[in-house]
Amino acid sequence: MVSNAVAGLMDEYKRFNGTTMNELFAAEAGRAEKYTLNFEGMTFDYSKNRFDDKVLAALFELAREHNLESRIEDMFSGKKINITENRAVLHTALRNFSGKPVTVDGVDVMPEIRRVLAKMKEFSEAVRNGSFKGATGKKLKNIVNIGIGGSDLGPYMVTQALKKYWAEDVQCYFISNIDGTACAEVLGQVDPEETLFIVASKTFTTIETLTNARTCREWLVKALGEAAVANHFVALSTNAKAVAEFGIDVNNMFEFWDFVGGRYSLWSAIGLSIALAVGYDNFEQLLKGAEAMDKHFRTAPLEQNIPVIMALIGIWYNDYYNIHRYAVIPYDQYLKSLPAYLQQLDMESNGKSVRLDNKKITDYATGPALFGGAGTDVQHSFFQLLHQGTEPVPVDFIIPAVSHNEIGKHHEILLANVLAQAEALMRGKTVEEAAAELRNAGKDEVTVEKLKLNKSFDGNRPSNMFILDKLTPFALGMIIAMYEHKVYTQGVIWEIDSFDQWGVELGKQLALKILPELEGGVAAAHDGSTRALIERVRKIREAC
Ligand code: F6P
Repeated sequence: MVSNAVAGLMDEYKRFNGTTMNELFAAEAGRAEKYTLNFEGMTFDYSKNRFDDKVLAALFELAREHNLESRIEDMFSGKKINITENRAVLHTALRNFSGKPVTVDGVDVMPEIRRVLAKMKEFSEAVRNGSFKGATGKKLKNIVNIGIGGSDLGPYMVTQALKKYWAEDVQCYFISNIDGTACAEVLGQVDPEETLFIVASKTFTTIETLTNARTCREWLVKALGEAAVANHFVALSTNAKAVAEFGIDVNNMFEFWDFVGGRYSLWSAIGLSIALAVGYDNFEQLLKGAEAMDKHFRTAPLEQNIPVIMALIGIWYNDYYNIHRYAVIPYDQYLKSLPAYLQQLDMESNGKSVRLDNKKITDYATGPALFGGAGTDVQHSFFQLLHQGTEPVPVDFIIPAVSHNEIGKHHEILLANVLAQAEALMRGKTVEEAAAELRNAGKDEVTVEKLKLNKSFDGNRPSNMFILDKLTPFALGMIIAMYEHKVYTQGVIWEIDSFDQWGVELGKQLALKILPELEGGVAAAHDGSTRALIERVRKIREAC
């Protein structure tokens, strides 16, 4: 049985579907202003979406029916909202500068968070100013983060996004993939005497990270001896025992806690590579930007709440228009890795089909597939599909108004492109317009007939536009937190646990079974295809 709010939205869909955004803009001169919010140096224009006031009201009704306001409070106040793992979800506490306590099981977690932040500050400053040196007395100029998933994507994306803030003599490298190439390529570039390895793993059990870390440790020990490990290896983890067993002194460990999910961990010790690259003060600015978004998400009325509005519009497309994908397209070279980071955040959080009440979801869709890339590059790859594919893809465009690299007219051209793409997606071009253009260009009627459909655009394709004053650490923190909260809001409405990730386990289990078989062990029961593939790989490798 559908709820009142869902029934209301189904009615709204029947009423509204078919209305175009062009019609909406023509009917309401103030639509853009009405559906634009400004927050801390960021403009969020959501007017180019398929809704009117009535649709929006029905969406806010849906949020209220799911007690969104109290569910937001549950997260901030440390309630164990990750129910399948019985954990609180407190990445927001990592950026809580209010001085107020945050408790889990009656214990205030803030003193520990502050202690680790202070340790990160002290260590990052010591490495950057050269007082913490390598074993042979050289400055540690190469930072190599070894991690995967949340222990890689966040620090990687942020360090790339803030490259303009890097210290001149620092280089950052990231090893994530178990593919030996990842290790080989980095180790081929760095001098062991000047290299600091950061082993980043929440659980310290992840096979990729531990294998890569062992390889790097052996490489370092071979070059500088066992005693050098203390100067060249630190660990970021919740698992002190495993860190010690691996062979890293726990004094060289920066802790975090179970209430920080992997994909929400860049704000924790997992952000050490960020602090080393851009300096602790800039890392703190990143946290402060996120804190500003946290306050907004926690206190703004739903109708003015940026992550909530993003989430509801996404649900409108996902569950009523049946559009199960969206694209995030930053027009900023520094944000090139943002879509890859957001893929984990969104798809590992909301790619679920079991509800909080332990029932299988059969009658609605949850998390959409996310893809993206940097504009204008991607205009020359997948934008054809965005403009003329059979199904629309809602887009989030992100651009700073002022670039860190104002060279000639580059940034004006970039800005013109992003604005034009959003306009083109919405406005489209009718067949008549396309035909008239062809005739104006002197084409004969045969050519006009042949090309007019191909040169027309349906339009009515939605997008959000985010304009940042500039891409600062603060602005980046805000943007990341905004997506985190959008994802949580959608999870609340889909009634799923956005903070577990059981879906990654089966593949890991099977890989552990197949590994010894590839090495010559007895084959376990497999389907015919997998068995044949194992055999084939074994034979090729034996022959080499
Ligand atoms: O891919 C599954 C996952 O558990 C992610 O959620 C996590 O970010 C990643 O593996 C790495 O885990 P860890 O930090 O424990 O090595």
